[in-house]
Amino acid sequence: MKVAPSLLSCDFSKMGEEIIRIDKAGADLVHLDVMDGHFVPNITIGPCIIKAVRPYTKLPFDVHLMISEPYDYIDAFADAGADIITFHAEADSDIDKTIDKIVSRGVKPGLVIKPGTPAGTVYPYLDRLYMVLVMTVEPGFGGQSFMEDMMPKVTALKQECRKRGLDVLIEVDGGISEKTVGAAAKAGADICVSGTGVFKAKDTAAAIKFLQNA
Ligand code: DX5
Ligand code: ZN
Repeated sequence: MKVAPSLLSCDFSKMGEEIIRIDKAGADLVHLDVMDGHFVPNITIGPCIIKAVRPYTKLPFDVHLMISEPYDYIDAFADAGADIITFHAEADSDIDKTIDKIVSRGVKPGLVIKPGTPAGTVYPYLDRLYMVLVMTVEPGFGGQSFMEDMMPKVTALKQECRKRGLDVLIEVDGGISEKTVGAAAKAGADICVSGTGVFKAKDTAAAIKFLQNA
């Protein structure tokens, strides 16, 4: 299991240092949550902040767009240094066009589904995706409880990819901790996002290692 600490739970007054801290602690990717106050009822960071913190690590930037019109902002996030851009299937932009745009910028595309959205929603796009992100909380806030009932979606997606010979990564996001990561690993998740579980841990390196070994 690869671990992508979510900066949503870091100390925002020193994001650069927080990134160095998780890099040294063994993180595999850096997860950045972008919220527009419209697709979700919260506002976080945008491309300028991502660009400003990009030089602090060589780890891939996994940018999770929780915004209504992802298509319109792909260039901005690509310019800011995103390596992976995931956007919501429930957003207003055309999914095919948004994937095309991400790929045209040399960035890896991912599609995200909220808890109420069935796994089958992403099937028509699977062969064009680098990653599918299965939300295990309602998007918008860190520190919520893991929804174990999302695990069948993870398993179904893994099986569908295997059936079609595709190597799409399945990521889970929300409420992942030492207590819940086992269920995600068992279901077949390849990457887990963890905000509270990593940044609020007493020993960050130990927390990351535990999740990686799940
Ligand atoms: C929620 C975000 C998550 C969040 C996870 O909308 O997408 O990435 O930061 O935080 P925890 O791990 O605290 O649930
Ligand atoms: Zn996220």
